[in-house]
Amino acid sequence: MKISIKKIIRAMSIIMVVIVYITTILLSKFLIDTDNIFSVNNLIMLLIYVVLAYLASVIISNKVVSPLKRVEKGMKQVSEGRLPEKSKLKVHTNLEEYKSLVDTYSSMVSVIKKNTFDLNSQESKTEIILEHMADGVIAFSMAKQVVHINKAAMRLLNITDALINFDDICKRLNLTVDYDQIMYLPNYQSLEAKTEIGDTALSVVFAPFFSDELNPLGIIMIVRNITDSVKTDNVRKEFVANVSHELKTPLTSIRGYSETIMNGDLTYQEIVKFSKVINQEAIRMQKLVSDLLQLSRMDYNKVSYNPILLNTLEVIKKVYEKIRFEAEEKHHKIEINCSELVPNIFIDKGAIEQILINILTNSIKYTPEGGLIRIYAGAVDENRMYIKIVDNGIGIPQKDLERIYERFYRVDKARSRKMGGTGLGLSIVKEMVDGNHGQINIDSKLNEGTEVTVVFPSRKE
Ligand SMILES: Nc1ncnc2c1ncn2[C@@H]1O[C@H](COP(=O)(O)OP(=O)(O)OP(=O)(O)O)[C@@H](O)[C@H]1O
Ligand SMILES: [Mg+2]
Repeated sequence: MKISIKKIIRAMSIIMVVIVYITTILLSKFLIDTDNIFSVNNLIMLLIYVVLAYLASVIISNKVVSPLKRVEKGMKQVSEGRLPEKSKLKVHTNLEEYKSLVDTYSSMVSVIKKNTFDLNSQESKTEIILEHMADGVIAFSMAKQVVHINKAAMRLLNITDALINFDDICKRLNLTVDYDQIMYLPNYQSLEAKTEIGDTALSVVFAPFFSDELNPLGIIMIVRNITDSVKTDNVRKEFVANVSHELKTPLTSIRGYSETIMNGDLTYQEIVKFSKVINQEAIRMQKLVSDLLQLSRMDYNKVSYNPILLNTLEVIKKVYEKIRFEAEEKHHKIEINCSELVPNIFIDKGAIEQILINILTNSIKYTPEGGLIRIYAGAVDENRMYIKIVDNGIGIPQKDLERIYERFYRVDKARSRKMGGTGLGLSIVKEMVDGNHGQINIDSKLNEGTEVTVVFPSRKE
């Protein structure tokens, strides 16, 4: 049944009239004491009227006022930026005049609730993205205070205290940056700077940010770790410098000796001697270029290996035949210490030959005349075998061991170059070992000797 305030009031007045009427009748017949209108009876009647009127007003006010009160409370909470509690969200009324107000209120609260949810989830999404970014992000207020800093920024800048401000951070970054200059950069431009904290190279970008009405709100700082790219860049520069240097030396000799020959006035023996030098330098350049080409092919994955099961002893003997002449020239003794029962090796034939040749050539080169070079081979476990080459040469200092596979790295550049070395041999070995599912380990003691061990599969996997 639909009730309206009008209907309630009408009903209440009718009820009141009826009550007054009935009471008056009753009083006139039995109770009214006409002589004394302030008699007890009359006062009792008055009290009854008052109580009845009060009860009626309580009922009316509850019906009329309580939904309004609830709507008011809810709106107050919304205006304070809070969502109305669930209990205050629902307003029950059967008053027709309130129906549309309550419906509008309910749908307004649902819309706000949905928008707040969207906003919250958007905010938490942004928060998650910021927290999981590899780049550090810091937002500063106009008062230069940190208003947001993500984990990456705290890690990169080694910050534990978020109360740090713009100037403290710039100091930590060893950067002198003018806050106002960034704030008023023309056309939303940003400012980029490069710096270092310890071993870490950092790129830092500063940009101002604004409100929807384009009022300046502060500065965003983005910090990126660029150590790896700086290293790669340095390696590339170093590589170009090394190649140029390695080519320059033999080219200078070739040019010098060939010009001397061209100038004439030389004996036949001198011409032969100088031609020999030219030939040696040309061979050296040829080796350098072919080593570089080989590394470049490996870098671009253009080298494909064809692993097959090979007899280890046969491989070692074949390599021995290839380097024997070189070893004999320096009066080295080469011992092959492995039995016929040594496990097979599963590897690309060309690769294992080159790996062993490069390692053995080093032993020959870096062992003084009359040295001893021993070759061992055996099983590591049922799936793997090893080949170990031990020399009693000059050895490698401990500090150089970790860099020994780097391209162009030589312990003693002058000595190595004199021996025709370019520092690429072990880089090639390492690439080939990795490409053939093997491992390499070098142990060495200065002035005592070097031990190189390679491990490879001993059966087809
Ligand atoms: N058996 C060894 N004994 C002592 N030093 C060695 C030995 N093997 C390698 N080295 C050191 O490691 C450096 C790098 O060796 P690597 O074979 O890569 O280059 P290289 O012999 O100088 O030149 P390349 O092999 O390209 O002709 C050498 O210059 C040398 O200083
Ligand atoms: Mg070498």
